[in-house]
Amino acid sequence: MNYLSAAQNLDTLRTPCLVTNLTIAKQIAQQAGSSESFRRETQDFKDDPGHYLCIQLGGRVARLLIMGGAETCSAAKFRNMANVMAKALLDMPIAQAAVYLLQAKVDEQDLGWKAQTLMQAMSHASYRFEHHKSQSKPASAIKRLKLLADPADLKPLRHEVRLGNALHEGLQLTKDLGNEPPNVCTPNYLLAQARKLARHEKVSLSQLDEKKMTELGMGAFMAVSQGSDNPGRMIILRYSGAPKSQPPIALVGKGITFDTGGISLKPPPGMDEMKFDMCGAAAVLGATKAAVEAQLPINLITVVAAAENMPSGRATRPGDIVKSASGQTIEILNTDAEGRLVLCDALTHVQTLKPRLIVDVATLTGACIVALGTHASGLYANDDKLAEDLLAAGERCGDRSWRLPLWDEYQTALKSNFADMANVGGKGAGSVTAACFLSRFVKKTPWAHLDIAGSAFHGGAAKGASGRPVPMLFNFLAAQGQK
Ligand code: BES
Ligand code: MN
Ligand code: ZN
Repeated sequence: MNYLSAAQNLDTLRTPCLVTNLTIAKQIAQQAGSSESFRRETQDFKDDPGHYLCIQLGGRVARLLIMGGAETCSAAKFRNMANVMAKALLDMPIAQAAVYLLQAKVDEQDLGWKAQTLMQAMSHASYRFEHHKSQSKPASAIKRLKLLADPADLKPLRHEVRLGNALHEGLQLTKDLGNEPPNVCTPNYLLAQARKLARHEKVSLSQLDEKKMTELGMGAFMAVSQGSDNPGRMIILRYSGAPKSQPPIALVGKGITFDTGGISLKPPPGMDEMKFDMCGAAAVLGATKAAVEAQLPINLITVVAAAENMPSGRATRPGDIVKSASGQTIEILNTDAEGRLVLCDALTHVQTLKPRLIVDVATLTGACIVALGTHASGLYANDDKLAEDLLAAGERCGDRSWRLPLWDEYQTALKSNFADMANVGGKGAGSVTAACFLSRFVKKTPWAHLDIAGSAFHGGAAKGASGRPVPMLFNFLAAQGQK
């Protein structure tokens, strides 16, 4: 999908389809001398959100896609309308469409919000993952969406459209990586994908292989990776979009390319969904791609902790004690709590690169799904300002998170009789104790953790990666760039 902007000049507009509200549609039909047929065709049309009607006009504007209730509405209704529009456009045999909806009055939302909402809806609706189907369905014809605005708004709109195109690319990458099967998407595959990002002149890549990680004392990471025949990787991308003097923002992603649980083996039902256990890695790579495409004026470090959690003769046993790169020892009571083990060494490593803040993203706990379901990602932070910025970034684009506590009281659950800590807490608050575990590996840097176990992918009939929380991360990074 390609997004464009243009001035709304209805007198000269030429398009296979104009998407607009009933009032403007009527005006266009009048200009085209089709008032009578327009009146007939729209006679039963309900001008309410959720309703739409497509009318053939012929001439300069070949079709009108009339969106109900598009003049004044709530933010939720506008978002819903954007989704309805996207589905309708994808069903049409047209290569491009023009959208004249930005003049809508939406409660408390500005032009940028409306433009982003329309573009995001289109990006999501147009997504297909059919690399592994021997016969794929014919692709939708539409490739370009032109947003029309008042000439006075054209400059800000151009900026928004640039962000929309960048986010589209990032979402695409994140979903593709998530959906690839685990026999394709291995740690080495993630490394190859990161290398592609590093072809950009402002991006560079380095990586730690298992030998190097062992030398660096990353016993926690290696405890997970050692059971697999697919070697683990710590992948580090650096994007320089701002002067060197500006300290970088760091994103860290959990990249478990398949989580069997290890010796603490998971039960078979739904185990295939554990291919999505690298969605944190996919999200930080997607957000990085979007930041690079948008040329955000920030410095960014992206770390992916990529490993496969397998049972084998070399796998970690419950009860094994390992030493993390931070020097702290961990009694691994459950090998299925592996995400925190790869992440703690990644967090230790990223702090040596002196970031000004760290956000880690992980499909970390089933308990987070119990707490929040799929609508919100779980957010934890050792810094209120960072938490607020992330919450606001997600709120703006409908990719929301909800803050959960990191109180000291919860830390006691991680007590071990034999090591500095256990890798699991007791029965309750599993998402919190996982976050508490990670917090022990962050020294003074402002840090936030996003538990995306519920939000990163859909199960059931719509099984597939959701692309979350890329919109939130990208919005956050864009806002950081403005400071
Ligand atoms: N990858 C899982 C968490 C998960 C579950 C993500 C469902 C997405 C959907 C994680 O590695 C895990 O297995 N966590 C355990 C932790 C427990 C052993 C303390 C869990 O949630 O059961
Ligand atoms: Mn697990
Ligand atoms: Zn996992």
